[in-house]
Amino acid sequence: MKNYHQFDVVVVGAGGAGLMAALYASKTASTAVLSKLYPTRSHTGTAQGGVGAALGNEGEDHAEWHTFDTVKGSDYLGDQDAIEFMCSEAVSSVYELEHMGLPFSRTPDGRIAQRPFGGHTNNVTGKPVPRACYAADRTGHMILQTLYQQCIKKNVNFFDEFQVLDVLIVNGAAAGVVALEMATGELHVFHAKAVIFATGGHGRIWEITSNAYTFTGDGLAITLRRGIPAEDMEFFQFHPTGIYRLGILITEGVRGEGGVLINDKGERFMEHYAPHVKDLASRDVVSRAMYLEMQEGRGIGGKRYLYLDMRPETVNQYAAADGRRRTDGSPYIVTGEELLGKLPDIVDFARTYLGVDPVAQPMPVQPTAHYAMGGIPTNKFGQVVIDENNTVLPGLYAAGEVACVSVHGANRLGTNSLVDLIVFGKHAGLDAAAYALGASYQVLPDDPTDFTRAQLEAIRQSSGSESAFEIAREMKSVMFDHVGVFRTAEGMQDALAKVRELRQRLQHVRPADSGKIFNTELLNTWELGNLLELAEVTTVSALARQESRGGHAREDFPKRDDANWLKHSLAWVRDGQIVLGYKPVVITKFQPKERVY
Ligand code: FUM
Repeated sequence: MKNYHQFDVVVVGAGGAGLMAALYASKTASTAVLSKLYPTRSHTGTAQGGVGAALGNEGEDHAEWHTFDTVKGSDYLGDQDAIEFMCSEAVSSVYELEHMGLPFSRTPDGRIAQRPFGGHTNNVTGKPVPRACYAADRTGHMILQTLYQQCIKKNVNFFDEFQVLDVLIVNGAAAGVVALEMATGELHVFHAKAVIFATGGHGRIWEITSNAYTFTGDGLAITLRRGIPAEDMEFFQFHPTGIYRLGILITEGVRGEGGVLINDKGERFMEHYAPHVKDLASRDVVSRAMYLEMQEGRGIGGKRYLYLDMRPETVNQYAAADGRRRTDGSPYIVTGEELLGKLPDIVDFARTYLGVDPVAQPMPVQPTAHYAMGGIPTNKFGQVVIDENNTVLPGLYAAGEVACVSVHGANRLGTNSLVDLIVFGKHAGLDAAAYALGASYQVLPDDPTDFTRAQLEAIRQSSGSESAFEIAREMKSVMFDHVGVFRTAEGMQDALAKVRELRQRLQHVRPADSGKIFNTELLNTWELGNLLELAEVTTVSALARQESRGGHAREDFPKRDDANWLKHSLAWVRDGQIVLGYKPVVITKFQPKERVY
């Protein structure tokens, strides 16, 4: 067969989860990584503020506290066995990254520096605890570079700019993937015993997003088309501080270093919404508070943004009011120079994109679509599970944002995405390699590329004058307005009708480029199909959940309803229809309670 490759383990995606998985799988199994990008351009590189681990370097901390904070942050929808596993593994995983050479920022005595982040608390006092281990505001970038160097050192095989379009499942087990080589337009078959999806999220569904252009939900759309459900799709996180109108992330680390959110009246409004931890409440709480402030006319100049203020005089004023102290007990007083050293990219972004010097002026910010809590259902070993009974699909794995373990439940805590990808990336890699050692290659069908070719041909041969750009614009707008921070049945019905109309219209987009070499127009049209499919699944799942929990806030059902809705949703696509099912949440130590921040 032309363009045929064989590896024990194929990893799809070269962000933090994919590289961690590849690094571990390659210890015992032949391993390939396929990425539609050059690996170090993956979206993990944009993660800024830190990776959470209870090292206790800048104040007392414990993995048990991290576990409880994550359960509470998840609005009790996270599976507690998996959360406990992640938070205890976080500590050794961070030291492991340090030993690989990751250049963490340091405390004065040389240990890994840590800063406070939203929802991370001392479980006794309820005060913020510094748990985010950081490399200035480039933590994800450093993780990506470190892991890529390690993979190169271990001779992992990379296929850069190979876009995976299908997963092969034979006799109920994973058998490989089909990918398009972007430089030639040719299809390749990667025959594998185990496949790990680590393709990231789908935030490009929304108008204002911190997500890269490449976050088009490919892995999740591919597996949905092959009969695998998507879990908890109604839960999508809006990060409170995106750059106004652009959505580019301004790290929560700014608030960790003492920055505060300010409304048009000059008030630090989070004091009213979260009296204990204020600006360091969990993201769902802060984003909702911002919306309410803007709705009540307290956006800056009546507009749809607020100020994030990290000027030293503001930071010092509120730190004194809060009684904040440094680790050595001295009062917390920062200088502009210190902020520049700890948040260099933020200073740069604000200057470049806002024309604002954040050490001298406040930054205009608004909530931005940031992170998918839902995804391909897995257990804590990264194995994909396909039904309400958590039945494993042999040889198929997912890790990182594309997966739903579920450790984030209804709302992820800041820093836990990086924890998730290092911990579950590693375990998916280890488990996939162990599985591959004992498994045989499945016999492939005569033409493994037929389903992929049919999808591409449908786009190439379509007739009509619809514009993919215009369809994407309409999807983003309706999803941002109606399936965003606040939701109602009426708004979501409108969004669903529009998304379904757009899916029809997509069939009448004919790419102008009929060539084979780097035909990004063809691939972007295919990706837009993925986004639309996931937008529909998100909206159907959100309409069904008649309660408010974490990132899913319904104005028509404003309360959390544990009696009826303490359960994960599963969505399948069967004969073109979305079918919903539910499975229980794993509760071990922590019974659901009302959340107070
Ligand atoms: O605010 C941030 O630095 C983002 C971190 C995260 O999403 O975990």
